[in-house]
Amino acid sequence: MKNPKIAIIGLGYVGLPLAVEFARKYQVVGFDINQARVDELKQNKDHTLETSSEDLESVNLSSLKELKNNSKGLWLTTNLDELKDANFYVVTVPTPVDKNHRPDLTPLYKASQSIGKILSKGDIVVYESTVYPGATEEDCMPYLEQNSGLKFNKDFYLGYSPERINPGDK
Ligand SMILES: NC(=O)c1ccc[n+]([C@@H]2O[C@H](COP(=O)([O-])OP(=O)(O)OC[C@H]3O[C@@H](n4cnc5c(N)ncnc54)[C@H](O)[C@@H]3O)[C@@H](O)[C@H]2O)c1
Repeated sequence: MKNPKIAIIGLGYVGLPLAVEFARKYQVVGFDINQARVDELKQNKDHTLETSSEDLESVNLSSLKELKNNSKGLWLTTNLDELKDANFYVVTVPTPVDKNHRPDLTPLYKASQSIGKILSKGDIVVYESTVYPGATEEDCMPYLEQNSGLKFNKDFYLGYSPERINPGDK
């Protein structure tokens, strides 16, 4: 992909540091459904302490317009419409387990539905949340197809990136 416009879905322990690193080189929109989380990050505060105020301040932009006028930087939002121009999506939403230790994929389904609504031809979606083998293609991909009307491996493409490090574990 020559001109990646990146969207990170879920700004927690995994998503926020990823968004900040990408924003040093590329245009990045960080999306979260938690308004309070987005508000604190816009004030350069990360209560998880994964990212310093200085690092946030160095990439945070004050508007979507500013992002479009720049080749790099981070715009934080809860507004799905503001992700429409992205062409490379990374999903970092939680995958909690229930009392029987079975993974609850509801956040992944919801995130996939959201992305499906704004997905365009040629886009790439990478899942980074912890899931079992096959979950990307068998469980998540149908939500992308159904909500976008696009076809997997013809109109859009998928990847999986396991999180190999433990954020916060220096
Ligand atoms: N934290 C770790 O040490 C770690 C390490 C390896 C892998 N992982 C995996 O990475 C994934 C994310 O973990 P985390 O620790 O960053 O989670 P987290 O709970 O810190 O953050 C997840 C964020 O996603 C947001 N979110 C939830 N549903 C959403 C949706 N539908 N759309 C947009 N945003 C949504 C939440 O508001 C939250 O801010 C999990 O699958 C986890 O297993 C985490």
